[in-house]
Amino acid sequence: MTETAKIVVGGKEYTYPVIRGTENDKGIDMGSFRKDSSYISLDPGYGNTGACESAITYIDGEKGILRYRGYPIEQLAEQSTFVEVAYLLIHGELPAADELKSFSQDLSQHSMIHEDMKNFFLGFPNTGHPMAILSAMVNVLSAYYPELLKPDPSHDDINIIARELLAKVRTMAAFSYKKTIGEPFVYPKTNLPYVPNFLNMMFTTPTQDYQIDDIEVKALRTFLILHADHEQNCSASTVRLVGSSHANLFASVSAGISALWGPLHGGANQKVVEMLEQIHSNGGHYQKHIDLAKDKKSGVRLMGFGHRVYKNFDPRAKIIKNLAHQLLKKKGVKDPLLDIAINLEEIVLKDDYFIERKLYPNVDFYSGLILRAIGIPTDMFPVMFAIGRLPGWIAHWIEQVKDPNSKIGRPRQIYVGSKKREFVPIEKRS
Ligand code: CMC
Repeated sequence: MTETAKIVVGGKEYTYPVIRGTENDKGIDMGSFRKDSSYISLDPGYGNTGACESAITYIDGEKGILRYRGYPIEQLAEQSTFVEVAYLLIHGELPAADELKSFSQDLSQHSMIHEDMKNFFLGFPNTGHPMAILSAMVNVLSAYYPELLKPDPSHDDINIIARELLAKVRTMAAFSYKKTIGEPFVYPKTNLPYVPNFLNMMFTTPTQDYQIDDIEVKALRTFLILHADHEQNCSASTVRLVGSSHANLFASVSAGISALWGPLHGGANQKVVEMLEQIHSNGGHYQKHIDLAKDKKSGVRLMGFGHRVYKNFDPRAKIIKNLAHQLLKKKGVKDPLLDIAINLEEIVLKDDYFIERKLYPNVDFYSGLILRAIGIPTDMFPVMFAIGRLPGWIAHWIEQVKDPNSKIGRPRQIYVGSKKREFVPIEKRS
């Protein structure tokens, strides 16, 4: 028997089918509710609204479960590479050895950006935030691939666009950084794998070549894997919404980068380190900061704490905390901010305000410490998140545009503005 849900409103009863996912997620398919009843469902922040069915990522926020295409994040973080995870997210299955080799080679061979694009980088002021530059440059890629920007791209076209974007994003990210510090750009090396190639472009200077450090490479690779997707978060939903108008992948991802930039989303990793630095320079006055975060009038939040979905722990935060410890230990770095983070976490986890609201450290709480130990500057942190999230955005965009039932995204609203009134010409207005 089909499971149904009944909604009674305005003296009438409406029946809708219940939808269950493969992991028993439950939803009510009430897309025709407005048409049937003239009522809409109001859900600011979409905390209770399913915008689509998706086969990419599964999260159970109560149990702290995160899986990409069914594979637990813990296993991927430990045993996989970022390029393999990117393949998995985009193509839906793990690659065979020859598929991974050719995917990886493709990414290396296409990592160079068009030489003319350098002019765009040169035009940005040095003070420009690298996220502003990255978002703009990803959109600019649309201008270089007009032949691929068809309204209904084939799978082959999509694979090429996805490859170009994945391959070039780290070059554009590294160029953004070099631009902001006024150093010459370092070109990608086609013989280097994904992560070392990026680090080489970031840290080779006119006087010194970057020496590949396996510990850093492993840490950054894991960081990228942990950020690779997170189902219908703000930036992925943005990519899907923009893609729902049949905007191309570059334009959609550029919008996703802008959404990610916000301090409540991917900008949080930068804000966490700034917060820890502030506590450090205040002589370690944790309580002052915690009290401010609890005071609604202050407008301050404890950055790196809380999550819309995770209500017991963020599985990514667990992995990244261990990774931060290991990296600093192996590199022999003593970062006072790590101690501050650990102490802050300990105090906060015993505080009723945070316990009652189920606020735990999220992925961003410790991730900045890893990036800092590698030498990545603070304003590049959201860019690192963007590089990591790219395979997820691509997978969501493909799922959106290839879904035969997808429609342009267009939420409704409850209008609370003025009732109808007559226009008064300016000379008659008092
Ligand atoms: N510090 C202090 N209070 C908080 C915090 C925080 N970090 N997060 C939530 N609260 C309070 C909030 O004030 C509210 O209190 P009350 O019920 O008394 O009004 C309650 O907890 C619920 O908060 P909410 O804003 O309704 O929760 P949300 O699900 O809309 O927001 C969040 C989730 C992540 C935006 C939020 O927890 C936050 O702003 N955290 C800090 C920023 C951050 O670390 N962001 C990174 C998120 S993980 C990376 C990613 O995937 O983007």
